[in-house]
Amino acid sequence: MPKLTVDGEGSFEVPPGKRLVNALEDEAKIDQLHACGGNARCTTCRVQFMNGEPEKMTEAEKQLLAARGLAQPGLRLSCQILCDHDMELKAISRLAGSGRADAGKRPADEITPPPVWTTKQ
Ligand code: FES
Repeated sequence: MPKLTVDGEGSFEVPPGKRLVNALEDEAKIDQLHACGGNARCTTCRVQFMNGEPEKMTEAEKQLLAARGLAQPGLRLSCQILCDHDMELKAISRLAGSGRADAGKRPADEITPPPVWTTKQ
């Protein structure tokens, strides 16, 4: 099973192929924000990779990061990533301290919108 390591929180076994945003909530027990419900519209699900950043990226993630000026090394949208290998990251966008009423609607089990895969370069 892929190992998810969250800086300051620990390491967690994750079911292969699970959406990273949901693994952060379910396995790592992080109060991860996902304001748009995992639909590549808000960027509140962003995380900062330390190791294991995926090379592949959905077109939706690529376009949104570029549009928001967030195309930075290691900065990725957890709703657009599947846990198919070991990853180490910082949870940088959490409910605590955000001023929001809740983290957002639970993202679906599958990546939404239906992923069109490209690479981050
Ligand atoms: S972009 Fe909104 S939850 Fe990922």
